[in-house]
Amino acid sequence: MQELTFYLVTDPHYFATEIGAEGEAYEARSRVDQKCIAETGAIIDAAFSRLAEDRDTQLILIPGDLIFNGEKASHLGFREKLRALQKAGKRILLITARHDYSDWSCGYRGAEEVEVEHTERSELRDLYAEFGFSDAIATWEGDGLSYVSQLADGVRLLALNCDGDTRSFKGLWPEQLEWAKQQIEKAHADGQYIFAMTHYPLLPGSAVMNLIGDAKLTDWEKTADFLADAGLELIFTGHMHMQSLTEHLSANGNKITDICTGSLVGCPAYYRKVTLSPDGTVTVHSIPTGEFDWKDKGDKTSAEYFQWRFDRMITDLIDAMAFDFPFFAAKFGGEEKMKNVRGVVTFFGKGLQKWTIGSLARLLCIKVDPSVRDILLKDIGLAFVRNIFVGNEPYVKGTPIYDAMEKILNRLSFVLKPLGKKLGEKQPVLRDLKTFILSMIGDEDQRDYEAVVTIHK
Ligand SMILES: [Fe+2]
Ligand SMILES: [Fe+2]
Repeated sequence: MQELTFYLVTDPHYFATEIGAEGEAYEARSRVDQKCIAETGAIIDAAFSRLAEDRDTQLILIPGDLIFNGEKASHLGFREKLRALQKAGKRILLITARHDYSDWSCGYRGAEEVEVEHTERSELRDLYAEFGFSDAIATWEGDGLSYVSQLADGVRLLALNCDGDTRSFKGLWPEQLEWAKQQIEKAHADGQYIFAMTHYPLLPGSAVMNLIGDAKLTDWEKTADFLADAGLELIFTGHMHMQSLTEHLSANGNKITDICTGSLVGCPAYYRKVTLSPDGTVTVHSIPTGEFDWKDKGDKTSAEYFQWRFDRMITDLIDAMAFDFPFFAAKFGGEEKMKNVRGVVTFFGKGLQKWTIGSLARLLCIKVDPSVRDILLKDIGLAFVRNIFVGNEPYVKGTPIYDAMEKILNRLSFVLKPLGKKLGEKQPVLRDLKTFILSMIGDEDQRDYEAVVTIHK
């Protein structure tokens, strides 16, 4: 295979603001979202112009969630941005995902959500024909949205749509997997290297993602085993708006690596530049989305703005525990369903506003490093959640935060052990709660941004 470099950009979620992106309804929607919405045009234009400036790298892969939520106007606007990149010499290959179609789409004006023209899933192939579908060397007839593309001499892309049944099944169909296996075998028989992209991650990018239904493909273990044993080593994914590099070893000893990239338009807001080399190494480099102009940014840099938006989403929820139970309950099934836990939620919500690591340590009669004593539990909780998405979680063994957390968890082991045993019956990853929690706050590998992966060329 010859050396090949490409950009991997995902989840741009373009929103055509001309259909309405202002007022209370927009603000309410925006506050609970990791991604910036009205800003997408400005962000994408700035990032795409930087891609266009790179004359050495022509290939761009986009694994889905092209637009906000099925609006036809957003597709038409986004397609123009892609066409401008094409004019600058880029070859763009994409797949679509569940945000790209909808039975109902809207813009936001004042207090109202105003219905706008939506997009059917059956329209997507034609809408984006020139971005992978029309020059594919093979297409899975089952959906017309999964295909194989020849990227360069000796390298192919297996692009797999994973909308599933468009409801609870978010996986790859048995027939689709069989087709994928044939394509992998055919590529190898033809002397071609082949790697894949899907929208949903193949592998959970953090221990907690085992508990979140759509954080990975449905039946991911079976699918990962199947694809690894079929000879697939590398898969690029999106959807979770997180940076992660995760490996899986099949029962037969075959390794597959899932490189999940953050959304272009939401914290941590990165894209990747990847080089496959003839010596069998894949170099993964990450690039921040970068600066963009926006009226409400104030003096924040883009990176600060993205983080502020993410933090606001989480702190709103923590604050609501203490001060706005209806808002909090609405996120977990409604006030009626949550009414029995209202007192507990409010108690902990108020506590989180004032408890520090030091006060918790005193309560549990343990010593923690002075440097972490004054950190509010609210702030460290926010950092833990944010870091799962940002990746390269920094609180590894030996850091004062890790040591404090380990001591706290050890002291609580009389509760955590029996609880883990019970929860572990349904969800094995929870069997050892201490390991589960510590694995989420510190990542010893630190490969979520920069990595070299070895492949069998
Ligand atoms: Fe998604
Ligand atoms: Fe997304």
